[in-house]
Amino acid sequence: MMEKIEQFIKRLITCLQIAKIYTSSHPKFAESLDAAYEGLQEVLREKQEFTIGIVGEEVAYEKEIFFELSQKIKAAIALLKKKGIERINFTKGVSKDDLSKFIEYLAAQETEQAQDPQKYLTTIGVRNITVGKIKSSEGEEQAAVGEKKAVGSEGYYEESVKTIEASVEDILGNRSVDGVDFRFNVIGVMENLMKKHNEFLRLATVKRYDSTTFWHLLNVSILSMYFSWRLGFSKDDFLDIATAAIFHDVGKIFISRKIIQKPDKLSEEEFDIVRSHSAQGAQILLKYSQTLGPIVPLVAFEHHLGYDAKGYPKKLTFPQKPHMASLIVSICDVYDALTQRRSYKREYSPALIYDIMMKEKGRLFHPELLESFFKIIGLWPYGTLVLLSDGNVAVVREQNADDISNPIVEIISQEGGNNLINLSNNRDITIKQFLNPASDGKQYLPFI
Ligand SMILES: [Fe+2]
Ligand SMILES: [Fe+2]
Repeated sequence: MMEKIEQFIKRLITCLQIAKIYTSSHPKFAESLDAAYEGLQEVLREKQEFTIGIVGEEVAYEKEIFFELSQKIKAAIALLKKKGIERINFTKGVSKDDLSKFIEYLAAQETEQAQDPQKYLTTIGVRNITVGKIKSSEGEEQAAVGEKKAVGSEGYYEESVKTIEASVEDILGNRSVDGVDFRFNVIGVMENLMKKHNEFLRLATVKRYDSTTFWHLLNVSILSMYFSWRLGFSKDDFLDIATAAIFHDVGKIFISRKIIQKPDKLSEEEFDIVRSHSAQGAQILLKYSQTLGPIVPLVAFEHHLGYDAKGYPKKLTFPQKPHMASLIVSICDVYDALTQRRSYKREYSPALIYDIMMKEKGRLFHPELLESFFKIIGLWPYGTLVLLSDGNVAVVREQNADDISNPIVEIISQEGGNNLINLSNNRDITIKQFLNPASDGKQYLPFI
């Protein structure tokens, strides 16, 4: 029995992940729904009804906790908790349509989820599947609601980030990676980006957690995804690009762990080894092209090649330009590397970064893509702390695509009133300089 239940949970989660990645009309969804439904029927052949519960971070059935399985489906568990679901009950007579609607409900973004989940499921006509909380007394229920808030979207985000990080580690350790699972987690991170893209851009462009390679990979992925989404790419395409961005420097981690671990200046030979990270990364990722897609090794291979193909590795037999995905990732890669330096050196102001990158227009970077990038991200990215020519301190709140050096800013050095100024319409006030939030703008940190 336990095995049948575990099997069903696995299939249910796979179907949920697929529902997040594809639309419900996609054949992959139908396939995984069939499998999940079959698993459910297997259990219901022996039982009138059964309940799956979430206890803490684990999935459970009766007194049994599925520890190993729970480890693998952390993001899905966080997602259920986020929806306020701690137990799911299935009763004999449940139809495939019920299961389909239920899964689609779980996969949907939580905009319509202000409602009680059970009420919502009843409204959309789901029968024989009921959901709720485990705790029944009112006081405890309240506590659970508070807890849910704490887990909230950040919990789901954190879990997804951890799983993405684990996948990077798996690839470095030559272990297998579940493609559906991985994309589901990328979606988890990116969905938050779609909802509050400004929040996440701020994370990627201004605020830094730390400077490890993993955060670089995540930042480049967020930027690439946002950039390609704004360029009009389809969901499938921007997920491919975001996935490729996550792994673009895998070769570098691989090399640094194996060979270079010295903090001093590198010799020419050592530089060559560092340069080999794109080819090495591609080689590692090639083994995963079935699960992660062919774009992933390709971008790793080409991300330093440059628009003019004069970078590295030297592609002697391929005279053509790099793939569009590689060109997108390479812009976001350099941009992130430069902003990262900014936290240590004041001289890397947004304006300087813009100048440095514009010098490579048509060489390292695709000219139109680079122009679009700054139109979208702005010269002064969302959340940048700036000193205005009138002496006020402000935070950048919105971009003007046609006037990238004059965004809409919010004055934070003065209280009250509407402090938003569109610098594009106020020609007498300009941005004088960028303030480093870690040093000269410390007191304004809570406002950013
Ligand atoms: Fe690189
Ligand atoms: Fe990079």
